[in-house]
Amino acid sequence: MLVWEDNTPTPSNAPSNAPASSVPSFDGHARNTQPSPALGLQSVASAQAIAQQHAQQLVRPAQAQGQAATQRRVNAADKRIINGQTDVNQLVPFKYKWAWEKYLATCANHWMPQEVNMSRDIALWKDPNGLTEDERRIIKRNLGFFVTADSLAANNIVLGTYRHITAPECRQFLLRQAFEEAIHTHAYQYIVESLGLDESEIFNAYNEVTSIREKDEFLIPFIEAIMDPNFHTGTQQNDQTLLKSLIVFACLMEGLFFYVGFTQILALGRQNKMTGAAEQYQYILRDESMHCNFGIDLINQLKLENPHLWTPEFKTEIKALFNKAVELEYRYAEDTMPRGVLGLNASMFKGYLRYIANRRATQIGLEELFPNEENPFPWMSEMIDLKKERNFFETRVIEYQSGGALSWD
Ligand SMILES: [Fe+2]
Ligand SMILES: [Fe+2]
Repeated sequence: MLVWEDNTPTPSNAPSNAPASSVPSFDGHARNTQPSPALGLQSVASAQAIAQQHAQQLVRPAQAQGQAATQRRVNAADKRIINGQTDVNQLVPFKYKWAWEKYLATCANHWMPQEVNMSRDIALWKDPNGLTEDERRIIKRNLGFFVTADSLAANNIVLGTYRHITAPECRQFLLRQAFEEAIHTHAYQYIVESLGLDESEIFNAYNEVTSIREKDEFLIPFIEAIMDPNFHTGTQQNDQTLLKSLIVFACLMEGLFFYVGFTQILALGRQNKMTGAAEQYQYILRDESMHCNFGIDLINQLKLENPHLWTPEFKTEIKALFNKAVELEYRYAEDTMPRGVLGLNASMFKGYLRYIANRRATQIGLEELFPNEENPFPWMSEMIDLKKERNFFETRVIEYQSGGALSWD
């Protein structure tokens, strides 16, 4: 049984009484039929337009309405996850304590990639007999996906999600999460550099390797929809678009698309191979587990405050996205493991991905999509739990530079 952190807000399965509305489709299918340009969010409008939107978000409504200064004081009960009217610059009084506690927990897990010794990985990679071709394929495919995946995750937060969230406690977590995504990109780059891999090949994998490209093509419409400067929450359709984007990123990107790759690298580490990379992945997995749990809390709180968004049509659309994501991640498993390797094979992942998808679905109040799936990798629970990681802070090889150590000449 995997060890997962419980989420504070309770998922609601209650059908909404609100009328159904048409929901734009972002399933990404059509994109796969066209010759695709290079990935990278090109269709997004100018940064200037986005900056104007951000400026609007900083206006304090009470001030704008000409109310007295004392009337502008924030009442926690008035805060909302989206479409809030309270001052987003005032972190307190807290309403969403779960978000603040998760922010503190992520800060307590701080780490940097250079703290991990990569010398054994480098020696193993350079040894012609150190790894099989299938193991090398797994490593290169893994890095090929992750070197750009975390940039997509960071861009989604900074250019998309952040401005639409009106709860300062949640914004505080998103700021920390964005930095952690930068650390993850740094970690993957550090592994690529340490092993002396072809940077161009690895960083272009999301354009050139079909199984990776398809995953990113599935995701990108959900980023672009909410970072469009003309996109605003406040209507049923747009609020559903934002909610869908949050679900795709928390449950399907961080909560599903990372798991074949994580399992593969951690399986290498369990066989005492690429132990530096495996250690980095362990810290990343711990961070991602927290991001996923925060995202699920955010989704459930948003649902509690806006039950009219959770229509039968919307749920049907979300289930279709879950099914598509499982299919894409399974194709990735097949591509990365054309044969059995490390005691793993692609078909084992079919059950694992269905098991994880069930977990994500129930966490946001959907029924299980694939009833009775078992976890074929119970050892992953140890990795996710990571209680042992107390030792990490006792064994770190680099100390952070303190103010007293800085030189000013
Ligand atoms: Fe990440
Ligand atoms: Fe993340």
